[in-house]
Order: sequence, then C-alpha cells, then structure tokens
Amino acid sequence: MNIDLNDLDVWQQGVPHEQFKWLRENDPVYFQSQPDGPGYWCLTKHEDIVKASKNFHGFSSAKGMHITDPINGAELMLINMDPPGHTRLRNLVSKGFHPRMITALEDKIREVVTEILDTVGPKGECDFVTDIAAELPLIVICELAGVPPEDRHKIFSWSNTLIGTGNDPEYSPGMEAAQNTFVEMNNYANLLAEFRRHEPREDLVSAIANAEIDGDRLGDLEISVFFVVLMIAGNETTRNLIAGGMRALCEHTDQAERLKGDPELFKPMVEEMLRYVSPVNYFRRTATEDFEMRGKQVKAGEKVVMWYTSGNRDEEVFENSMTFDVGRRVNPHVAFGGGGPHFCLGFSLAQLEIKVMFEELFRRLPDVKISGPVQRLRSNFINGTRHMPVGFTPEPVRV
Ligand code: HEM
Repeated sequence: MNIDLNDLDVWQQGVPHEQFKWLRENDPVYFQSQPDGPGYWCLTKHEDIVKASKNFHGFSSAKGMHITDPINGAELMLINMDPPGHTRLRNLVSKGFHPRMITALEDKIREVVTEILDTVGPKGECDFVTDIAAELPLIVICELAGVPPEDRHKIFSWSNTLIGTGNDPEYSPGMEAAQNTFVEMNNYANLLAEFRRHEPREDLVSAIANAEIDGDRLGDLEISVFFVVLMIAGNETTRNLIAGGMRALCEHTDQAERLKGDPELFKPMVEEMLRYVSPVNYFRRTATEDFEMRGKQVKAGEKVVMWYTSGNRDEEVFENSMTFDVGRRVNPHVAFGGGGPHFCLGFSLAQLEIKVMFEELFRRLPDVKISGPVQRLRSNFINGTRHMPVGFTPEPVRV
C-alpha cells in the first residue's frame, strides 16, 4: 500500500483509515519520511499510544506537539512542557476545571444551546458548522474564561488562524500571520488578566491571574500563553466533534433512530462520537533516548507521532472498529489522549457540551439532513469540518 500521511489533499477528502488499517496490521511503528523535514515515527496501535502518553521521561513534549516545529513562544504552552514545570503549571490552572465547576455549567450550556437553536430553528436550513457546532464551544469557553461577548468573534478568528498554521487556505494565511496572531492574542490576554487582578470575577482568567500555591504565582507570559492554549483547545476540538458527530448520525440513520427511542444511549453515544470522529488526529512527542519498539530502532531526538485516530480504530481493542455504534459499551478511546500528564484538561467540559447539544438537537431538530457538499479542513492534525450545509423541518418562531 502507498503510505503518505503528509498528503493534506488526501486528508481534506477524509481520514486515510485504509492506510492506518494497513499500518496497524503490517507496520505499526512506521517511519514517515518528509520531503521538507526529518520525518517522524508513527505509532498506530492503541497499546503503543497509551504507553508513550504515560512515559513522559522517554517521550518528551518539550520540543513541540505538532509535526512541524513550534512557533516562537509556544515552548511556554502547557502542552509543550514536561514535568516538573508542567506539573506546577497544570496544578495552578486546573483550579478552574474542578468537576464541581463543570457540572455547575450544565444549565448555562443548555441556555446557550437554546439560544443557538432559537436562532437557526425557524430557518429550516443552516451551515451546521458555523451556525451551530462552532457557536457552542466558542460561547462556553469565552464565558468560562471571562471574555466579554463583544470579543468572542475575535477569538474565533484568532484560534482558526492558529490551528490552520499555514495549511488551510480559508483558515490561515500563513506562518507569519500565525506568529502575529499569537502575539496579538497574548496581548489581549494580558490586558484581560490585568483587569481581573484588580477586579476578580467568577471566571477562569480571574482564577489563574490570582492563583497561588505555596506562594507560587503565574507570571504574565504564563497566563497569556495558557489563555491561547485554552482558547484553541476549547474551540476547535469540540466544534469538530459536534460537526463530525452530526455527520456520522446523518450517514448512519439506523443509529439516529436508536437514540430517538432510548435516551440512555446518549452517554455511550458521546464516547462513540469521540472514538469514531477523533477530532484531534494526533499529538507529537520527541524520543529522549534510543529505544526499540516493535522491532524498530528509534533514536533520541526523533519525532514520534501518536495517531489517536488510528488507535481509536484498533481492531485488537474495539470490536467492529470501523462501525459507528452508539450503544458501544466497552470504549477505552484515546480521543482525549492516552492518559499520562497531558490528558485533556477540558474533557468533562467537552463531554457535557456534546451531550447537551445532541439532547437538544434530538428534541428540537430531529430530522437534520446534510443538504450540500461538506467542506473539510485541510489538515492532518485536526479532523475538521469547515462547512456542512444542512436542512431540517423549521421550528415555529418563538415569541
Ligand atoms: C472533543 C473535545 C476535545 C478533544 C478531543 C480534546 C483532545 C485533547 C488531546 C488529545 C489532548 C492532548 C493529550 C495528551 O497529549 O496526552 C488535549 C489536551 C488539552 N486539552 Fe483537550 N480536547 C477537547 C476539548 C477540550 C476543551 C473543551 C478544553 C478546555 C476548555 C481542552 C483543554 C485542553 C488543555 C488545556 C490541554 C493541555 C493539557 C496539558 O498539556 O496538560 N480540551 N486535549
């Protein structure tokens, strides 16, 4: 089989699952060369992804989490750090992600979904990505962080520019734009943190700007860089899960029918969407020492990519792994990472947003159908959808 995981034109058509299946069966630790880079090892088996995620001594995050090298300043991002620096920062910022705080958000999330559906419901058609899927995580993360409503769309465009980093023609005009956006977003965060230091509110920026553990506080740059990570992580992932999840339901109407008859299935449905869609295709680590893995010799300093999207289809772990099954009971997916210190900080928030969104969609717009060409993101990092036109029976206008 011809394997080329660099070809973004292929990814734009869809995740190359047939390549990953072949790799899992024939060459599970594969070295992908690059025309313009040193190449990288590909971990395609669930077991190897979990092992690498947990072994931060052997698989460092400090040289970047993307296949390409990080932009200047990105080394201060939580996701690009190793313990003990990572542990210190994560302890300081995780205060805002206590399960208690997240559960308390359910009513707010339902309110936001209600507003979104009130706007599109009577139209009978919309772009599912921009009108529905993108709106919820954007509003929720901005509310959580304390970004005023009038600045939300700035955040939307900034985080698109940074996630596209030069690859997607609609989202990103290039690396220079990404670098400028990073600086602009940092300046914005510093200003917001300054306000919240003087007048703290019940939001995450206030919590981290004033957080202290044993006299240790976060510096300005640490706060602003964390803000950037949070905005990207909170927006792009959940948006693409909701869009990809909706697409999966439209393409598997038997599964949508099962859900209509059984609300108990919503919880396993969320997990199955995470597994099946895997909005984050991979994260990268760097080997810190020479080692052997499934007969391959990996050298210190080489890039190692953990393909979550492949681990989530591993036939050794998931029965009928290519099937979208909303009732799947055993589902140890790695969509939020394979465990270890970097495991997604926002996982319970994401699960809650997805659950509430689909509960309300099924209640109010139960016959959503794709009505035009789906446009995917040109990326092998995010399994993304840019636009997805849909139609549905219009709701009566609410007064
Ligand atoms: C469907 C939604 C989401 C998916 C699939 C997802 C996936 C991931 C993955 C794969 C990682 C890296 C794990 C690793 O390297 O071991 C990660 C890290 C992270 N996620 Fe998420 N995420 C989602 C939603 C969110 C949300 C809503 C937030 C914040 C509000 C968030 C915040 C973070 C942060 C801050 C990190 C870095 C953690 C660290 O380095 O310690 N994520 N996420």
